[in-house]
Amino acid sequence: MSIRQVTSDVYQVGSIDWDRTLFDELIPLPDGTSYNAYVVKDEKTALIDTVDPTKTHELMTHLTELDVTIDFIISNHAEQDHSGSIPAVLEAFPDAQVVTNPKCKTLLMEMLSIPEEKFMTVQDGDILGLGGKTLEFIMAPWVHWPETMFTYLREGKLLFSCDFLGAHLATSDLFVESMDMVYNPAKRYYAEIMMPFRTSIRKHLQKLDSMDIKIVAPSHGPLYRTPSLITNAYEEWVSDTVKNEVVLPFVSMHGSTRQMVDYFIEALMDRGITVKPFNLTTADVGELAMSLVDAATVVIASPTVLIGPHPRAVYAAYLVNALRPKCRVASIIGSYGWGGKMIEMLKQGMQNLNVELLEPVLIKGHPTKEDYTLLDKLADEIYKKHKELNL
Ligand code: FEO
Repeated sequence: MSIRQVTSDVYQVGSIDWDRTLFDELIPLPDGTSYNAYVVKDEKTALIDTVDPTKTHELMTHLTELDVTIDFIISNHAEQDHSGSIPAVLEAFPDAQVVTNPKCKTLLMEMLSIPEEKFMTVQDGDILGLGGKTLEFIMAPWVHWPETMFTYLREGKLLFSCDFLGAHLATSDLFVESMDMVYNPAKRYYAEIMMPFRTSIRKHLQKLDSMDIKIVAPSHGPLYRTPSLITNAYEEWVSDTVKNEVVLPFVSMHGSTRQMVDYFIEALMDRGITVKPFNLTTADVGELAMSLVDAATVVIASPTVLIGPHPRAVYAAYLVNALRPKCRVASIIGSYGWGGKMIEMLKQGMQNLNVELLEPVLIKGHPTKEDYTLLDKLADEIYKKHKELNL
């Protein structure tokens, strides 16, 4: 536990969670995470966001060590990893006001039972003077929730960007010195929670273009003294550009689908296409999500269980459908023993995707020579579509 000084009157008082391995009981965190909270000291003192409830004691220790009285708690986002300690801070500083927008206020009242009289609400562009320093509030709905906002400290030109531009990365380094350390965790984080809101993220990036920002201070992971390091990466991720890649989540029960997958991988490789296969029995869904940020095509491979797809393939289709990647082409391959509606059910599960669905390849039992020809045909078709996209 340690307080880290960001600039002369700004301190990082949050918590590094070295041991956390799962977020939302869903998202793997191979690099841990941090819950960043910031104190801005002035005649009045503001605390920008708090920490996950499991780390409240660290935040409170930091505030005691800094010897500050909190006048304002700025809540940029109601999700509990940033808001969960607000009740404890209010208990320690009963005169503090929670400053946030009306949507976030409602969520905080509903989720954390914070009484209405504790709030001061702000709108886009509103400012809050702390004495010599000024905080400006910028509404940023749909970073991944509808109530999110950013806070900008005019003196020092710091942007507290909440989840936006963050990374699930536990590191002792306060600042990013090179993207090598943070590129994959940041991309993973974008893929997992922001990719479905790509259009909104694009708008938030455009808004930042018109601002003078010296430091980006997100709510997870290290800070940026060179904001372009992370904004340039985001520009690429949110762009419409796709890569000559096929993401291939697969599962096999008795080996037939696996034989199809192995053949199909080689068929795509022979055509100069990068393939990213994910065995769904062991795959890290974060890696799968990351691969979907850039790929032009996704193909799901499944056997038939009872009358439908393998549950792990259903999960993959659900995930792809929910993450809404920018891929342009999709298909399904797989096998069955005696019948079923595997293809129809997977198709239904991917209805959110704005893609061209190529003719699936469904075979009975083990693949035959003719079945392999069908896989060659699908690989040819994907190659053709990628060429049409100038890949
Ligand atoms: Fe880090 Fe959306 O909470």
